[in-house]
Amino acid sequence: MERRKFIRSCSCIAVGLPVLGLGLESCGVTHYATFSRQKNELSVPKTEFIQVRKEKEKHLDFVLLKVSSSEFPICLRKIGIDQYSAVLMECTHQGCELKVAGTAYSCPCHGSEFSQTGKVLNGPADIDLQKFSTRIDNENIYISLV
Ligand code: FES
Repeated sequence: MERRKFIRSCSCIAVGLPVLGLGLESCGVTHYATFSRQKNELSVPKTEFIQVRKEKEKHLDFVLLKVSSSEFPICLRKIGIDQYSAVLMECTHQGCELKVAGTAYSCPCHGSEFSQTGKVLNGPADIDLQKFSTRIDNENIYISLV
């Protein structure tokens, strides 16, 4: 390969990798839901799980809720037909904020993994995530903070 061609192909790879990485990162949609609070209960409209982009509806697997009384968001996840799970995104090992990883949660600090309902799958954490009970009606999902 000629030197000039080699340098050109290397620079294409160098430019392309960050763009590819950015594209992969943006595939995961993280949506902070709008909700209301009455005493110790949060009310999240079911419509928060639907996003409309370019006139197409996308149904989200989860939404995050930023509650003023907590440093960590709550992840509200649809786990079945009219079934939801709500967990605090705080790792029970040393308190790092978790990431949603497919149908589970992973900790960027030391690698603990939790199921979608907050059960420990892999340590070093050995305590399940803080869970909140949920209930639904026709329009909303309610999360009890008690
Ligand atoms: Fe999450 Fe250590 S803080 S694994």
